[in-house]
Amino acid sequence: MDCHGEDSEVVAISGQWGGSKHASGENIDRNGTDCSYCHTHEGFIHYVDTGEAIEPMNPSGIGCFTCHEPHTNEDFSLRTDDPVDLTEGGTFDFGLANLCVNCHQSRAVDPSVEDAGTRVEITNKRWGPHHGPQGNFLAGDLGYLSEGLDSSDPHQGADNGCVDCHMATVVGAWAGGHTMNMYYEETEPNVAGCNTTDCHDGGIDDGDDWAAGEGFNYGFVQSDVMDLMAELRAILLAEELIDADDYVNVPITMTLPEAEAVFYFRSVLEDRSNGVHNPDLTVDILEYSISLFP
Ligand code: HEC
Ligand code: HEC
Ligand code: HEC
Ligand code: HEC
Repeated sequence: MDCHGEDSEVVAISGQWGGSKHASGENIDRNGTDCSYCHTHEGFIHYVDTGEAIEPMNPSGIGCFTCHEPHTNEDFSLRTDDPVDLTEGGTFDFGLANLCVNCHQSRAVDPSVEDAGTRVEITNKRWGPHHGPQGNFLAGDLGYLSEGLDSSDPHQGADNGCVDCHMATVVGAWAGGHTMNMYYEETEPNVAGCNTTDCHDGGIDDGDDWAAGEGFNYGFVQSDVMDLMAELRAILLAEELIDADDYVNVPITMTLPEAEAVFYFRSVLEDRSNGVHNPDLTVDILEYSISLFP
């Protein structure tokens, strides 16, 4: 493969990557032992190789050699695409996207939802899945699910999960491909991954459903989720379970229904897709949460 040639594909891909949060986010140098295995190149590869978390002295961002190992494999196959045992339980197995979910998954919810709801005082205002539980949403396995709720979803039909949507055909250097962005020029959604024959088959509009300033609005789920989130947020504020910044109002001991509602609220918030990663489950957990406060 032509890697170092002046017009090799690698040049274009490097440009795409340069516009991604993996290259230029504000948190790609979090090198503490609890953070580095998802937030730095050095921490991640050490963790994949040995299962051990380290504090790299000179951390660098999430780059080509984090996800690939071309000098070893002599191609751009992935460093790992093994199915991932999720920290909060369950397995994530969506082909190429297994790579992503080593990092894009919930961290340990401590105390667990059941314990939080019965006897334990919560002291950490960030209680919940922490950032990036996208893998848990797609797999339908949030670590805790109230009885009677179903976690299956049509988007689980995307064989390569995250990659099918976020790395769909690139738009210039701004969306899709290695930018992993779902929109470009801040207002235009990249619907290339949605509109394939096996999926929405051209049915997703790339312009009319856009609601400026509110993220993507495909019409069929995001506006519902935004409305349900606003309703639930108002309830949780009135019950003094969360503060004005959406953190848990600590210290606090909750009943089980209260802990469930706060957990679901913070999970949807941190997933950041307003329902797209699992439309059915997202709507269900929000409606369930609201129903707990008649
Ligand atoms: C080594 C861990 C790691 C891997 C592997 C990884 N990511 Fe990320 N990803 C991160 C971190 C950390 C951030 C946030 C960086 C920041 O904000 O500074 C991020 C950011 C993102 C964002 C941007 C979010 C925003 O705020 O715009 C998207 C989209 C994304 N990742 C998708 C993916 C996809 C798709 C894959 C797999 C192809 C993947 N990531 C693989 C750790 C990882
Ligand atoms: C299991 C992997 C993992 C671990 C461990 C982890 N993070 Fe992250 N973190 C992520 C991912 C993935 C994102 C990007 C998620 C997104 O953009 O939605 C992220 C995003 C963030 C953000 C940006 C949030 C925002 O709203 O912009 C901060 C800040 C952060 N992490 C801090 C930390 C700190 C501090 C630690 C260690 C105490 C840590 N993380 C440990 C995976 C992890
Ligand atoms: C966060 C993980 C991640 C990072 C960082 C990353 N890649 Fe990739 N790359 C992937 C994934 C996943 C695929 C598979 C995409 C597919 O098959 O559609 C891929 C595919 C490729 C391919 C094959 C492209 C194709 O369409 O066949 C090349 C070449 C490549 N990457 C080069 C690079 C280079 C160069 C960089 C750094 C500038 C880089 N990658 C950074 C995850 C990553
Ligand atoms: C069915 C298509 C689809 C799949 C599969 C998918 N995403 Fe998304 N993702 C989206 C859409 C659409 C958004 C919403 C963009 C918006 O509203 O701004 C989004 C939002 C996000 C965000 C918030 C930042 C942003 O770019 O808006 C992150 C981070 C993210 N996804 C990561 C992932 C990861 C990691 C996976 C795999 C576990 C994944 N996604 C799977 C379509 C998808």
